[in-house]
Amino acid sequence: MPKQNTVSRTKFERYQELIETLNRWSKAYYVDDEPLVPDAEYDRLYQELEALERENPEFADPASPTRRVGDAPLSAFAPVTHRFPLMSIGDIFEDSELTDFNRRMLEAEGVGAVEYCAEPKLDGLAVSLIYEDGLLVQAATRGDGKTGENVTANARTIKAIPLKLHGNYPKLLDVRGEVFMPRDGFEAWNKKARDLGGKVFVNPRNAAAGSLRQLNPKITAQRPLTFNAYYIGYAEGAELPPTQYERLQYLKSLGIPVNPLVEVVKGEDGLRNYYKGMGEKRQSLNYDIDGVVLKVNSIAVQERLGFTAKVPRWAVAYKFPPEEMITRLLQVEFQVGRTGAVTPVARLNPVYVGGVTVSNATLHNEDEIRRLGVKIGDYVIVRRAGDVIPQIAGVVLEKRDGHELDIAFPQTCPECGSAIERLEGESVARCTGGLICPAQLREGIRHFVSRDAMDIEGFGDRIVEELVGSKKVSSVADLYALTESDLASLTLDTGGLEKKPRLLGVATARKLLKNIENSKHVPLNRFVYALGIRDVGQSTALTLAHRYHSLSELMAATEGELMELNDIGKICAEHIVDFFKEPHNQDVISRLTARPEELLFGAGVEVFSIAEDFAAAPKPLAGKTYVLTGTLSSMSRSEAKSYLQALGATAAGSVSKKTTAVIAGEAAGSKLTKAQDLGIEILSEDDFTAMLREYGLLKES
Ligand code: IVH
Repeated sequence: MPKQNTVSRTKFERYQELIETLNRWSKAYYVDDEPLVPDAEYDRLYQELEALERENPEFADPASPTRRVGDAPLSAFAPVTHRFPLMSIGDIFEDSELTDFNRRMLEAEGVGAVEYCAEPKLDGLAVSLIYEDGLLVQAATRGDGKTGENVTANARTIKAIPLKLHGNYPKLLDVRGEVFMPRDGFEAWNKKARDLGGKVFVNPRNAAAGSLRQLNPKITAQRPLTFNAYYIGYAEGAELPPTQYERLQYLKSLGIPVNPLVEVVKGEDGLRNYYKGMGEKRQSLNYDIDGVVLKVNSIAVQERLGFTAKVPRWAVAYKFPPEEMITRLLQVEFQVGRTGAVTPVARLNPVYVGGVTVSNATLHNEDEIRRLGVKIGDYVIVRRAGDVIPQIAGVVLEKRDGHELDIAFPQTCPECGSAIERLEGESVARCTGGLICPAQLREGIRHFVSRDAMDIEGFGDRIVEELVGSKKVSSVADLYALTESDLASLTLDTGGLEKKPRLLGVATARKLLKNIENSKHVPLNRFVYALGIRDVGQSTALTLAHRYHSLSELMAATEGELMELNDIGKICAEHIVDFFKEPHNQDVISRLTARPEELLFGAGVEVFSIAEDFAAAPKPLAGKTYVLTGTLSSMSRSEAKSYLQALGATAAGSVSKKTTAVIAGEAAGSKLTKAQDLGIEILSEDDFTAMLREYGLLKES
């Protein structure tokens, strides 16, 4: 240690203290899924650390979080020979193979039901991380299993990979795991790339591989990569726990993240249930998994069974049906949305992918067609993962036979014949037909009646199309002027050549009228959302409704005033002001909100303020923390969140011991499991809405 004067010694102590604190917070965030401080607090100390390092360049701890970025680009990756090869695992695809595997393991272990460590099979790329005396000294890709590439500088930029281990670490540790890109990060990255005309990734696995194999670590640092460990290659100078599961827990104690869905299961049924359960969870996860990995839990038995030339005998990968398939692009059609946006939609030869049969996929816009270089008749890679709409991820060029046709983007609207216009700097082309375009009207009505908007049940696509086609409805306000006979006489289908057309009928008509009637009492946020203002989604509508006490107050808002609100930028503010300035829109709004005695055909929709309710509401849940998971059927997540906040509660993103209760909607995933594990109270959607009603935030139903 260099001799230092008192001042710089205290500075040096502060320096080390900052590194220790930031790394501890980072472990809490990435490994324990239990953030200790808000992001801003982390950032504050990080900046202090940066300043200290700037003033004192001699302070150079390799474990400093500032050392994650900044390495100079390489000209090539150096080869790394793995001390112990990075093995792959044998795949199985069928239930009978599961039975066979379990039988083989039973023979080896000999007694009772075999205990397994069951893990999700993460779809990224394998890396080996070497820690010497607790410090990350090398990261290498798998390569051919024996020799990989040295990607240390890149791995250091991944925040989930600790630069320095915590706790009781061995002198030497080689830990194996998967580097992967979460789905949200992948989607966000691709969206940005599409908007800016950059390189789009085919899937998160390619994205992870491409990002980790960047010669410039500064580029890797910008990519949303993360890491989960699943195996200890070797360790020196420590007594390792005797089972795979405990070894993973041990890795966690060292600050290395491990997937939270890892479980110990017993026997063939245990394996089967785990596979099934993960299959059901798969879509709701924020990362791709392509199966489960089933490992004999006892390390002693693993050692007894050993390896074949390529794979361990004590593990298998039971694969899921794929989320990507190849199929043929039959035709491209152009759909006009409610704002006039023209979207090319690919009609596909139906394929089973990601758990559903897909026959359409979005092609986004003209640039995307050009970027993909796709033609009609091409074989394409269709990807459907999570609840994301099916995408065309790429073209299989080898399958071309020369008969493929170019896709021509239309110059005029396929629905109304008006010119299609594409403004400079925009990727979206729009029909300029506005109100005369039946497609825009139809989509506008579909949006208006949808559940998160005015929630008028029963107005399916077919009925809306008929209402627009027969000119019974030419604005959303006309819905409220519909009579029983208007509706009863709607033709539902022509029933072929000879058959008489089927009519909607009086009974259904009455039901629809009742649903329309029931929609006449609506909170401002839903009404604003229902209007379909460009760029105003549910959460922006909610922001507006918190700020403005009435529709007229909102209609009088200026651009500058709107831009002061959270998450409302200049363009969005412009759209809002323009929308309310437009005479036709003003007309529709006054017809919607005027009572019949005030205006002929006035619908009398009563728009109530939530701003007052919220301000006046007591804060009975102050100090409590709720976590939302899964999909709620009666409200969006952001709506639920603001109700919680209005009651004084915190809506947190992850479950911890501090969580008061978890509100679990449809298809709740790992947060629910974690809450169950921790014995935290779980509220159903009904429990939650009952609570909101009790506090007066929802009207009695
Ligand atoms: S264990 C000796 N566990 O799947 C044991 N591998 O075909 C070696 N993978 O390239 C691997 N999740 O990158 C293991 N929970 C998991 C895994 C996993 C994903 C990948 C791994 C490897 C491939 C095996």
